[in-house]
Amino acid sequence: MNEYKKGVLSRTIRFCDKKNRETLVLQHLFVHGRLMHRAGLKIIITPLNWEGRIEICSALDGRVTNQGVERYRDLGSKHLDLVESKHIDEQRMVLKMRTNGSCLDIAMGARTRIFVNNKTAAITSLSADKSGGYVARQFMVTVARGETISIEKLICIYTSWDTGIYECLSEAENTIADDVESFDSLLKSHVIAWELLWRKFDVRLELGNSDLEQYTQKIIRLYIFHLLQSSSVHSLDIDVGMPARGWHGEGYRGHIFWDEMIIFPFLNYRTPRITRTLLMYRYRRLHEARLAAKTAGCKGAMYPWQSGSNGREETQQMHLNPESGRWLPDNTYLQRHVNNAIVYNIAQYFQITQDIQFLSFYGGEITLEIARFWASLATYNPKIDRYEILGVIGPDEYHDAYPGAEKPGLNNNAYTNLMVMFVMDQALNLQHLIPEQDWEYLRKKLGIEDRELKIWQKMSRRMKIVFHDDGIISQFEGYEALKEFNWDEYKIKYGNIQRLDRILEKEGDSANNYKLSKQPDVIMLFYLFSAETLRKMFKRLDYSFDKDSIVKNINYYLNRTTNGSSLALVIHSWIEARLEREGSWELFSQALETDMVYDPAGSTREGVHLAAMSGCIDILQRGYAGLEIRSNILILNPLLPKSINRISFHIRYRKHWLDLEITQNHVKVKSLTSKAIPFTIMIKDEIIRLYPGNIAVVDL
Ligand code: BGC
Repeated sequence: MNEYKKGVLSRTIRFCDKKNRETLVLQHLFVHGRLMHRAGLKIIITPLNWEGRIEICSALDGRVTNQGVERYRDLGSKHLDLVESKHIDEQRMVLKMRTNGSCLDIAMGARTRIFVNNKTAAITSLSADKSGGYVARQFMVTVARGETISIEKLICIYTSWDTGIYECLSEAENTIADDVESFDSLLKSHVIAWELLWRKFDVRLELGNSDLEQYTQKIIRLYIFHLLQSSSVHSLDIDVGMPARGWHGEGYRGHIFWDEMIIFPFLNYRTPRITRTLLMYRYRRLHEARLAAKTAGCKGAMYPWQSGSNGREETQQMHLNPESGRWLPDNTYLQRHVNNAIVYNIAQYFQITQDIQFLSFYGGEITLEIARFWASLATYNPKIDRYEILGVIGPDEYHDAYPGAEKPGLNNNAYTNLMVMFVMDQALNLQHLIPEQDWEYLRKKLGIEDRELKIWQKMSRRMKIVFHDDGIISQFEGYEALKEFNWDEYKIKYGNIQRLDRILEKEGDSANNYKLSKQPDVIMLFYLFSAETLRKMFKRLDYSFDKDSIVKNINYYLNRTTNGSSLALVIHSWIEARLEREGSWELFSQALETDMVYDPAGSTREGVHLAAMSGCIDILQRGYAGLEIRSNILILNPLLPKSINRISFHIRYRKHWLDLEITQNHVKVKSLTSKAIPFTIMIKDEIIRLYPGNIAVVDL
């Protein structure tokens, strides 16, 4: 089993010092998969050709600063102050620090034991503290040739936000004082926890080429591992969101954007309870979103583009262009479309779980407040009898203003406007989904008037979408007038032109002047909605739009993108999975490399890209396996590229655990559950009622 399948980070170091002494060091460390307060570290040292004294320092270091992202290093980076530190005995110590902004207390305890040849050794242990939050013990041990020393350090961590505790330092102290675990016994329960996780979450691939299979499978599992490190059963019932870069690095400072929209499909089909927790994180910040709407002169609730802590807007006001060295205004906060993503996520979660309680009390309230926000931001244009949304920006961050304009913001971003129509539909549909008493309760609580519902209804039929060039959806009004970009010239001149925004700004030009994009904007629509749904949406808006228009639009925008965001390749590959399988496989292979390629200048060292990781898994499950839920039917409509022989994975659907196997020739779905209500599944065009314990097989 690979070490990441066990959730253990292992390192082997063999080195030779100036005195020609050779030493072998093995290190294993893990954060426990079930016991959320525990972690362990074991280091095994073998002097290969020498004997003598080894000094070991085991510390709890609260002096850590945020220095992981080079361009943030000049900004405030010391966030922890010492509250208390203590040695309990010769093996055990505790440390309590407090974040100096949010006053969150964090307490850690450690127990260090040293063994020589697996036996407890006679060692000298001294306190080796330094000021400012560093508590340590120094151990001196003498080793003979051929002997092995193992150091076991077991950790516990509590914070003042933990539930079911008295006070975090005393909890840490009690846990570590009573600790009778060895590294191996703690590791054993951790490995079992991961075994159980893999049973649910693993996605297995069989490719024609076995080297490629091994490589691809390894990355897929690595990405699943990282997703489960960032959100897991440990997240249940705690107030935690889904940061774009995981908890792995300091890039984007742990902020939460709209990336959940790409991450949730992975969780929804396996542990929707986690999705619920992440949606509750949004609900708890509804108050702040209401304040933000009010400050902007709007009604309802306006969630910010980047958020953290209490849900206030955290988008930086200035950002640095490392190419030019200039600090520039950052207008990306105008991405109000993040609100649509939240409603979309609530709808998807409900589709899969039918969690009426959540919808009635939490999801419904968020949806109604966001609908209200859009209704107050939109302007009705009587000349064309349509609603317009002015002064926002879409997902493509390279366009934040009209050429030469002093004020940021664009009008009628197609993605935003169509998603607003979706939001209005969801808000209106609530009355048919939740019990009437709950609907009345929500309406009363929020004071929603009939007049508002009428406006929402009209908005769901009369949002403005702008077109140009015979059926191309304009990314925003006025897009047509922008200049075409000279791609060849810039590719020759710069090689990598992903960050054209920076390159052009350095040249005294601006990405705002050209038809180019950082990432999918119009194309997001084809990622989120099926061709059939889009056709219906456009029809209701009274615009003509057919299947050919989809291909035309995708090609138009694919030819004008820089793939400047890690989200871009996965979305593009996903889209292609529906259009042109082999092209999609190529893009998928590139997307898979997002956090794999070692690039010293790359951004993985600042944190992994969770949406790209999850998006890769989603290409397999929803893109290639064609997994979908529509009108209460589980659908499998596979389109495997030639390179894939078989994809298999488990999903949870309406109280069934299902084992899915998709090959070039057949689809097999087995219900692993013995007691559950049967459900309807559509494989290709065949409709089947699947009973608990039964198997459905359909030849392709
Ligand atoms: C992208 C955003 C994304 C953010 C965090 C940015 O580069 O443009 O769409 O939400 O990264 O992943």
